[in-house]
Amino acid sequence: MYHYVGKTALITGASSGIGEVFARALAKRGMNLIIVARTESKLRNLAHELSNQYKVNVDILSIDLGKPGAAQSVHQITREAGWRVDLLVNNAGFSTLGAFETISPELEQQCVMVNIAALLDLTHAYIPDMLEQGEGAIINLASVLSFVGGGRQATYAATKAFVFSLSQALWTDYRKRGIRVFALCPGPVSTGFFDVMGSKAKLNFMGLMDKPERVVEVGLKAFEKGKPYELVSWFTNATAFATRILPRTLMSRIVYFMTVFIYKSDGK
Ligand SMILES: NC(=O)c1ccc[n+]([C@@H]2O[C@H](COP(=O)([O-])OP(=O)(O)OC[C@H]3O[C@@H](n4cnc5c(N)ncnc54)[C@H](OP(=O)(O)O)[C@@H]3O)[C@@H](O)[C@H]2O)c1
Repeated sequence: MYHYVGKTALITGASSGIGEVFARALAKRGMNLIIVARTESKLRNLAHELSNQYKVNVDILSIDLGKPGAAQSVHQITREAGWRVDLLVNNAGFSTLGAFETISPELEQQCVMVNIAALLDLTHAYIPDMLEQGEGAIINLASVLSFVGGGRQATYAATKAFVFSLSQALWTDYRKRGIRVFALCPGPVSTGFFDVMGSKAKLNFMGLMDKPERVVEVGLKAFEKGKPYELVSWFTNATAFATRILPRTLMSRIVYFMTVFIYKSDGK
């Protein structure tokens, strides 16, 4: 079990999608929140709504996690304000999409900065605090693409492989030291994620698209049980299983096919 009431969660990427749903779900469970993203107006509205509805304290931090030193600033601000962080939800992230040579290197760098560097720096910043507090927890947003790299989302898939691998390692490092580390691995989820990456796909191919509410509820149940990760859907389970029995090259080609034809990436 995990006791939420009266504790504080810091959630990155809480202005929309899965992060916003995490904020709602954790506020409902009685947690105070520190919600982080770039879009201040969305954070303000959400903070107002959740503090009124659930009578919890919600602070906002509007910051670009793609900038060097952003995570350290977040940590410094929370420390100076005396805000204790019990649960860190490393959720902010985005994907690039398309043939590798057509994507701007600067955008790819941003993807690495947000998906990897900010997550790593926040984890480094808060783990010593959690050890000092005697307990803590971290939820990292991985993906079905943590298990198989596929063309057209090459850099994104690589960032999510990093997130899953790091989470597994930290789970073993800290499970006996009072800190839970958990990786949530959804397949496609219906959020603004696809608009941000420039996908023209609107379809829900074979019912692949999950709802963020279901992803978060399934994730929190697994987290509460102390599981190291959760694969969330039949699709993620099937993909993770297939990577154990099929050649990696075949898996990568299947993912390439799906990205080109389902997400409507250019098929160059
Ligand atoms: N949707 C999916 O199919 C899917 C599947 C597997 C895993 N995931 C993962 O789930 C996480 C959440 O994605 P989502 O689907 O909820 O997408 P989303 O709706 O686009 O939300 C992304 C969140 O990240 C924040 N963000 C992006 N860049 C940022 C930056 N530079 N600095 C600070 N915050 C930033 C955004 O806020 P601002 O724009 O306001 O900054 C937003 O709140 C991501 O890590 C994603 O990789 C998503």
